[in-house]
Amino acid sequence: MNEQQLKGLEGKAVVVTGAGRGLGEAFAVHAAQAGASVVVNDIDGELAEAAAANIRAHGGRAVASGHSVADPEQARAIIELCESEFGSVDGLVNNAGLNYEALPWQDEPAQVKELIETNVLGVIYTGTAAADAMVRLGGGGSIVNISSGASLGQRKLATYAASKGAVASLTYSWALDMEDVGIRVNAVCPLAHTRMVWKSERSLRNCPPERTPSRIAPVVLFLLGDGAHGITGQLIRCNGPQLHIMGQPYLKAPILERQVWDSDSVQRAFDEVFGAHLEPYGLEKRVPPRLRKWTEGPSTPLRSA
Ligand SMILES: NC(=O)c1ccc[n+]([C@@H]2O[C@H](COP(=O)([O-])OP(=O)(O)OC[C@H]3O[C@@H](n4cnc5c(N)ncnc54)[C@H](O)[C@@H]3O)[C@@H](O)[C@H]2O)c1
Repeated sequence: MNEQQLKGLEGKAVVVTGAGRGLGEAFAVHAAQAGASVVVNDIDGELAEAAAANIRAHGGRAVASGHSVADPEQARAIIELCESEFGSVDGLVNNAGLNYEALPWQDEPAQVKELIETNVLGVIYTGTAAADAMVRLGGGGSIVNISSGASLGQRKLATYAASKGAVASLTYSWALDMEDVGIRVNAVCPLAHTRMVWKSERSLRNCPPERTPSRIAPVVLFLLGDGAHGITGQLIRCNGPQLHIMGQPYLKAPILERQVWDSDSVQRAFDEVFGAHLEPYGLEKRVPPRLRKWTEGPSTPLRSA
């Protein structure tokens, strides 16, 4: 880490959820090194305490929370701890998350529920509690949600992808709601070598060990700090070497108009107009079968899919 990254959060109090290991721990350590007082939250309280003790041992200010973001009362308690210990709530990194791989027809309801409760409800409970404190204390703030490139759609990750899509939607909506009260809301889509990646052979192939969580931390630090003023409602992806903004979903032209759409006119709209406007889908940008015959190269015979 260079000197430049060690500044910028002096006097700020920041909550990082899921900060006992992996990306969250890196965000907490870097925030403390940049001068913030940090609530290090993790459902694994021992890990949270160890990470907070490590920050304190290096001269930083940190307190541990073993609360679960998936419980509204506990999520509020994480934010209250920040206010009672440090006197303000200036930043929140909504990082706690779970993932697993499953084919859609093998997905287990109990696993789906646990993931959605953590990745979606946890972000909502902690984010709304933080917004409540920030509005009441009157100092504005910055919320950084952790989404994922998987939100664009990935094989065997539908439930996880949906949860991260929800985080993207929350980011856009909260940014609209919170601009007038001085709270910026952005999201980061990281890729880093953590426990989450070790569990999946495919992720391991895409994410070599040198893509450490510390390489993502400067992006989160930037968004937490005042240098990011005027930046809100954005999804920013960083996978180590690459840093870019994710495009926003939008209403695509042409927008056809009829008083009423019946099944004949819908069929004609697709046959005559939309057939050529279908979008490649998923993170891998898969071309829909109906268009594929036009896109798979000149040698491919034209036959219907
Ligand atoms: N690693 C990647 O490449 C990658 C890619 C895209 C998005 N992400 C996201 O980044 C975030 C961090 O992931 P990671 O790779 O560091 O994973 P990780 O599994 O190493 O760490 C996640 C931490 O969250 C904690 N946690 C889980 N449920 C919790 C709860 N209810 N309350 C509080 N803490 C809880 C876990 O105990 C764990 O310490 C996640 O939201 C993940 O979806 C990671």
